Amino acid sequence: MSPSERAGSFDRGAAHYAASRPDYPAEAVAWAVPQVARDVLDLAAGTGKLTASLVARGLDVVAVEPSDAMRAQLSAALPRVRALAGTAEATGLADSSVDAVTVGQAWHWFDPSAAAAEIARVLRPGGRLTVLWNVRDETEPWVGAFTELVHRGDPLPTHFEEPVLGPAFTSPEAARFPWTQSFRPADLRALAASRSFLLMMAPDEREARLAEVDRLAATHPDLAGRDVVDLPYVTYAWRATRR
Ligand SMILES: C[S@@+](CC[C@H](N)C(=O)[O-])C[C@H]1O[C@@H](n2cnc3c(N)ncnc32)[C@H](O)[C@@H]1O
Repeated sequence: MSPSERAGSFDRGAAHYAASRPDYPAEAVAWAVPQVARDVLDLAAGTGKLTASLVARGLDVVAVEPSDAMRAQLSAALPRVRALAGTAEATGLADSSVDAVTVGQAWHWFDPSAAAAEIARVLRPGGRLTVLWNVRDETEPWVGAFTELVHRGDPLPTHFEEPVLGPAFTSPEAARFPWTQSFRPADLRALAASRSFLLMMAPDEREARLAEVDRLAATHPDLAGRDVVDLPYVTYAWRATRR
């Protein structure tokens, strides 16, 4: 299975994704977009988790997302946002048409040099690109147990690192934002089911893995019998300016 086939797996998990994946902390979103920005492209927008935070800041947001199912969730949640079928390598936007581009949880799915060239094309000079990843804090024991269970045998490790952008951009500046999400242990199954690794599994193999997740939620001392727990995340972000 190629990484690009796996990137396409989100089409099958859109509802699980919308229900269980994290939003983005407001301070990370404020850091991502320049004060003076007005037009923002949320690239690989998925179900609109980052898009919603950008809209809440009063920005004029266009969302580009290749998966029809993910885009349908976005449009249901954010009917006023222009949501276009497109990719990071071919957004379909006009030259120099946006002040900022955000990429949440998706840079690792792109062809990085083609995506950097396309983003440089659609950004106005002085505009900003920010890439972000929400990463679960595995030092919390139940979170570590969850990750070990869900990603057992996964050939593609969770991937987040400084993006390589080339000469059209300034060198990326890094920041990290620790935060917690209120999370229902009952939703652990949906969180697991939204991972591309599980989306690519045969149905019986996936169901066996999800049954293990249910057992973890029912038996781990930090989860069993709780309605809501704190799920710790760190948002890692890099931002760079279009020269
Ligand atoms: C993990 S989701 C992130 C969605 C959203 N940005 C968020 O933070 O919740 C990754 C998204 O990247 C999209 N994707 C995969 N390959 C892509 C590409 N080459 N160009 C644009 N989007 C892509 C998938 O369809 C999926 O919706």
